[in-house]
Amino acid sequence: MTKTGLFISFEGIDGAGKSTHIDGLAAAFKAQGRQVTLTREPGGTPLAEKLREMVLHDAMDALTEALLIFAARRDHLQNVIEPALARGDVVLCDRFTDATFAYQGSGRGFDLGVLQQLEHWVQANSQGLRQPDVTVWFELDPAIAAVRLAGARVPDRFEAQPVAFFQKVSDGYAARAQADAQRFVRLDAAQPRESVWQQLQQQFVQRGWLDARLV
Ligand code: TYD
Repeated sequence: MTKTGLFISFEGIDGAGKSTHIDGLAAAFKAQGRQVTLTREPGGTPLAEKLREMVLHDAMDALTEALLIFAARRDHLQNVIEPALARGDVVLCDRFTDATFAYQGSGRGFDLGVLQQLEHWVQANSQGLRQPDVTVWFELDPAIAAVRLAGARVPDRFEAQPVAFFQKVSDGYAARAQADAQRFVRLDAAQPRESVWQQLQQQFVQRGWLDARLV
């Protein structure tokens, strides 16, 4: 296996069901001898996890929200993601910057130009702009996601939003996917879990990142 690190992010509206698949993918990579760094945003470092708590539970305006999320991202990139990629790990990150464009940009209506500037400041490294090698987008009709989420647990500031908000978030993901079609893998998350897993696995086998005989 190659020593080159792989950076994979996972996106979708709340309730799209990405978590179990991220765990499955981590297990598949480990079974094939890769070191895996499993992480999430906002979060992934002690500081970023504190910021996550605030972002998910404390009332604030959209600019404050965006700044805290990018502050968390900076700390996470410097202390976890970049070192892991330098070691050659597979980094599986539950959400990354596409979520900021989808939730704060499209969902909250916050200025996309400002988000782009923040993205450039925060993700700049010696090679240019750090972006995931692949972003797996679990696409799901917001009405279906709402049914899945109902009664699941005490909702945070995002989960408590109405279906119309998630429709905007979903449109935000679609715009990001269209602008960077090479990077995005779209999965139909309305399918049964096993079929979503098959779609996901196939994508990684096709890229030569997982061995078909072993998954
Ligand atoms: P989520 O990833 O769904 O985790 P959990 O499964 O534990 O609920 O929760 C993170 C929430 O944060 C989600 O509602 C989306 C939101 N979020 C943003 O609004 N902007 C961002 O940039 C990121 C990374 C997340």
